[in-house]
Amino acid sequence: MVNTRKELTSSAGNTRKELTSIANDLKRYIEAERAAGTADILSPARPRAAASDQKKARLLEPVKKEVLSCRRCALYKTKKNYVFSDGDPGAPLVFIGEAPGEDEDIQGVPFVGRAGQLLTKMIEAMGLRRQDVYICNVIKCRPPNNRAPLPGEAAACRDYLLSQIGIISPKVICCLGKHAAEALLGTEVFITKIRGKEFEFNGITLIPTYHPAYLLRNPSAKKEVWQDLKKIIKILSG
Ligand code: URA
Repeated sequence: MVNTRKELTSSAGNTRKELTSIANDLKRYIEAERAAGTADILSPARPRAAASDQKKARLLEPVKKEVLSCRRCALYKTKKNYVFSDGDPGAPLVFIGEAPGEDEDIQGVPFVGRAGQLLTKMIEAMGLRRQDVYICNVIKCRPPNNRAPLPGEAAACRDYLLSQIGIISPKVICCLGKHAAEALLGTEVFITKIRGKEFEFNGITLIPTYHPAYLLRNPSAKKEVWQDLKKIIKILSG
């Protein structure tokens, strides 16, 4: 079973090296794709509908307000900040992680720690910017010691996630790791078995891939992650 919430222990220098090496590998894949003439796929043009994007942002406000005073499970007692989302509510692509970690808890923003830096590089390797996608988590409060969310915590938070997805209504959802996939697919999964496969969630294409924290511990998995990201790029540009 893949555990995406293990404490990551390497030093800051090692971290930077690992991130750079993984990001450089992803970039090399991209350059190879460009050389093969698929640059159009790598820069998905996004016809923007500004008015409806603003409407989505407006519709998300009450959901966020509710989250910011949530007491549906005990995690509100130990968290520093609720972590609602980051990015563009009008985005065609939503990344869903597991739960805020320490950095996210301090800043109130998802995916800003080591795994978040790698996620940002993955997004950039796709030819997108972090602000072009929407990023959130299954649960909005940090579990103590970064443990995985308990089923009751994920269940208590599920309505918020479903509201976010329903309002944003993206073309693709990328579930980062087992917990995000389980929250939406409603069944226990082995991420090694389902990653890269296409599922359907409320009419939206759902593609699970490995969590960036897993990728940091297992850099050899970057090939599979890149395959999954390429699949997403293709769907977005289709
Ligand atoms: N891991 C997650 O799953 N989410 C975050 O926001 C940060 C790390």
